[in-house]
Amino acid sequence: MLRAFFLYLSHAVWARTLITRFRFAWQAASRFVAGETADDAITAIRALNAKGIHATVDHLGESVTNEAEAAQAADDYIHILDKIAASGVRSNVSVKLTQLGLDIDTDFCARNVRRVIEKAKATSSFVRIDMEGTPHTDRTIAVFRALHKDFDNVGIVLQSYLYRTEKDLRALTEEGARIRLCKGAYNEPPDKAFPRKADVDANYVKLTHVLFDRAQTVPPAGGSGRTPPLPAIATHDEKMITAAKAYAEEKRLPREYFEFQMLYGIRRELQEQLVREGYAMRVYVPYGTSWYPYFMRRLAERPANVWFILSNLFRR
Ligand code: FDA
Repeated sequence: MLRAFFLYLSHAVWARTLITRFRFAWQAASRFVAGETADDAITAIRALNAKGIHATVDHLGESVTNEAEAAQAADDYIHILDKIAASGVRSNVSVKLTQLGLDIDTDFCARNVRRVIEKAKATSSFVRIDMEGTPHTDRTIAVFRALHKDFDNVGIVLQSYLYRTEKDLRALTEEGARIRLCKGAYNEPPDKAFPRKADVDANYVKLTHVLFDRAQTVPPAGGSGRTPPLPAIATHDEKMITAAKAYAEEKRLPREYFEFQMLYGIRRELQEQLVREGYAMRVYVPYGTSWYPYFMRRLAERPANVWFILSNLFRR
């Protein structure tokens, strides 16, 4: 119930207006957000890189309904890609299509993403398209497919809580898509997503196997001439991580054939442990002023965070 409540708050305008007024809310959110500026993000990435962790930057923003704002978001991504290249930090970028105009017009959005991918190509970087709620799934996959025809430096995210994902994942891996697998962070109805966590988790393990089976057939150096799939196992769940490690061992899949990914500020000690064990680790680093819905989704994932934040507040 708390999960559903926070996911409702994530898109409730009244709650956003109220909550973002409190300085304390930003202080709490900053556990999950690297800062408000691109320079803050670069500083956070540098600190991660020093620990052997790669990054993917998210310039926070979503559900944009104004063309100028969506075009500006693409410009902001181009700017951060320049900063990444100039500073020499190890990071790519993650984008949300509703920030780049998906709710305005699909072609307009695709043109914005194309501009970002072209800049990423020119700076030897990579663009991951995040997956949002089910009203956007088909269009997100369609935009990805159109761009993937022309570029090999773009990947997509799929969510194990959706019934449809196994089919999407099998089709997209056949097309050589680079996939980040996550559980899914939105409020979805029971006719679209598994309502029980145990089923979401079981599907996650099953889909990890499909991804690794596919990764085994294409070397990461792209020796076959095809783009390496380099699947990303994006989770903080130790059961999912243990299962992925075990299957990689069983299939003798080398550690450089996949990577683990986690969110900024979550399970930091586990991130560092995986690096010590020799696994590739990438952290999703969000920055920007539009932190509110991202913060609410992090609270929804772990309502215990709310008590942690409140207890810190009252301790002041
Ligand atoms: P689960 O929620 O079962 O949590 C397992 C354990 O991890 C918890 O017991 C707790 O210890 C820890 N944990 C999880 N969330 C936490 C939190 N907020 N605070 C503190 N501890 C927490 N989703 C999506 O729909 N589209 C997307 O594009 C992406 N992209 C993405 C990128 C990356 C790199 C990651 C890691 C995640 C995403 N997600 C996402 C979010 C994802 O769908 C999911 O909501 C979160 O990762 C939480 O799920 P877990 O797999 O961690 O498991």
